Amino acid sequence: MTELELIIDLHKCSERQGPGSESDTLRALDLLNLPTDQIMKVADIGCGTGGQTISLAKNLNGKITAVDLFPEFLDELNEKSHKLGLTEKIVTLEKSMEDLPFDMGEFDLIWSEGAIYNIGFENGLKKWKDYLKVGGHLAVSEITWITQSRPKEIEDFWKAEYPEIDTASNKVKQLEDNGYTLIGYFYLNQESWIENYYEPMIARFETFLKRNGNSELARKVVEEHKSEIKLYQKFKDYYSYGFYLARKN
Ligand SMILES: C[S@@+](CC[C@H](N)C(=O)[O-])C[C@H]1O[C@@H](n2cnc3c(N)ncnc32)[C@H](O)[C@@H]1O
Repeated sequence: MTELELIIDLHKCSERQGPGSESDTLRALDLLNLPTDQIMKVADIGCGTGGQTISLAKNLNGKITAVDLFPEFLDELNEKSHKLGLTEKIVTLEKSMEDLPFDMGEFDLIWSEGAIYNIGFENGLKKWKDYLKVGGHLAVSEITWITQSRPKEIEDFWKAEYPEIDTASNKVKQLEDNGYTLIGYFYLNQESWIENYYEPMIARFETFLKRNGNSELARKVVEEHKSEIKLYQKFKDYYSYGFYLARKN
């Protein structure tokens, strides 16, 4: 297996592929205060195995197109949606978020948890806006500084990993500059990172290594994830995922 295949293997049996929780998804949905008397057309971009897709399907009057680059994640989502009787509400689509086959103004709501960074926040805002109706909504979570200053070590790390990391006020400005009106904002608490994401991941390390013959590459993947967790534990007071709720003007 290649390193990417191993990363997919580590993450595919998980509820979520990034920090988040059902209560975060529902809080974001609540802030949007969407109409309930019409069937919404929704895209969930970078859905992974669909933790948030399932929550949306259960709590929204709508049909969701759940998009991800990796079929392994979409297979898991399809299986869950089948078991829960949600196949009428969820259709999966294997596509890159950079090259979506959607029509102009097709969607009432675009949702994306922990995924827009793959094409960059501002680029994503611009590209996806075309697929939204005027007055349609965007719900997107994005890595965000939660304080105005921070230690150099974490600043350097994120500037190298994802130079677009910024404060919420600057992210909101980007939304406004690109034709959206902010409806709400909150950031994910530490439980959404630790209890919901990192602890279940740590619990999977042993079986992941066994399944992959304890290979050098599999051990490297585990070590890299452990470093990410250590970094979060050390600097968790400085960054999180900000959840941005906005309307297209
Ligand atoms: C951090 S995970 C978040 C997954 C899910 N939304 C969640 O919160 O659990 C990012 C997701 O983006 C997907 N992804 C990465 N690059 C992509 C691309 N170019 N197009 C579509 N999906 C992509 C990954 O496969 C992964 O499922």
